Amino acid sequence: MDLSKSKKGTAAVWAGETETFPHGSSTAPIFNTVTFAYEGLDDWYEVAKGNREGHIYSRNTNPTVQALEEKIRILEGAEDAIAFSTGMAAISNTLFALLKPGDRVVSIKDSYGGTSKLFLEHLPKFNIEAALCETEDHEQLEREIEKGCRLVYLESPTNPTLKVIDLQRIARAARKAGAITVVDNTFATPINQNPLALGANLVVHSATKFLSGHSDTMCGLVCGEKELVREIFKYREINGASLQPDAAYMAIRGMKTLELRVQRQNESALQIARYLHGHPKVDRVFYPGLESHTGHDIAKRQMSGFGGMLSFELKGGYEAVKRLLHNLTFVHLAASLGSVSTLAGPPRTTSHVELTEAQRRGLGISESLIRYSTGIENVEDLIADLEAGFKNV
Ligand SMILES: Cc1ncc(COP(=O)(O)O)c(C=O)c1O
Repeated sequence: MDLSKSKKGTAAVWAGETETFPHGSSTAPIFNTVTFAYEGLDDWYEVAKGNREGHIYSRNTNPTVQALEEKIRILEGAEDAIAFSTGMAAISNTLFALLKPGDRVVSIKDSYGGTSKLFLEHLPKFNIEAALCETEDHEQLEREIEKGCRLVYLESPTNPTLKVIDLQRIARAARKAGAITVVDNTFATPINQNPLALGANLVVHSATKFLSGHSDTMCGLVCGEKELVREIFKYREINGASLQPDAAYMAIRGMKTLELRVQRQNESALQIARYLHGHPKVDRVFYPGLESHTGHDIAKRQMSGFGGMLSFELKGGYEAVKRLLHNLTFVHLAASLGSVSTLAGPPRTTSHVELTEAQRRGLGISESLIRYSTGIENVEDLIADLEAGFKNV
């Protein structure tokens, strides 16, 4: 079955699961095995040498994990894909596999906190420098890329203020400078945005979020050009950040409903953003689907939906944040995002807890900001919940 031309909703269901599994199983079985036995040494040798397809040891490859890898490969239009134990494992393995001492990276100030830590604390120990640009300043990004770099690392939309980068423009500049472009597509998901089609070489995902979609499993994915993915695979084999087969199964199960969930989250988040935009107790709303958003025109061009994530600033500072959040019913006050249930929290206790108030302010993250990850609940209930919550703010 060739799924490369199928619509995404179809590919999300079938990719990686088109073959007949043992006993006619219609879903990928969980191959909870560390090792794979052979009838004879000759067969084993042929697989070990890579002359024949097969599995040897689950740190390297596993059939359940491969089914998941095939799903993201098709959904992102990639040549190859590999899975990791977490999103951070996917990101750090990608960087450590592709960079060497003396290399330079160009990235943005607003990347996910864990990724920023790699750029600011861990890579410098290996004499790898990162130039972190103002996220929406495309000219600065281009200037830094032109100075020479091995890798350009981007995220769009960003966490938590949903800034948008013109991926095609920056990937073009990177290619001209001979650099690899890596895009974290966690917030957008492959339903809303395909960075490879915009010129990126690699896409990384925290599949812990929208892809798995139920806040019940951790997983990371990397996909893109075959040669690069193979290089990262060789590093992962030794680094050991492989995905467990049962976690792979949870991600596979979640991804089958990805299109349904994301379409619903796109629609609900836009309605909620519009509701908040006109609210007298709200100062600012950050959502790329709003015409007032600084990145709206770029988002309209490069995304087919604006996603389930939004953030908003309240009048009345952190005390107002507390009052509103404590009054909501259909919201988990929790870290993470992209689940079927709505999650919300202030960046000062979640994604940016390790920064000082001044550092957060420098990133445009005020103490009155709330990050809101829209779930798949009925949007009328979510808006009514906010409306009731605001009465006590
Ligand atoms: C955009 C983004 N990338 C990467 C990660 C890291 O993923 P994980 O928690 O699966 O390691 C996160 C986690 O919140 C994220 O939001």
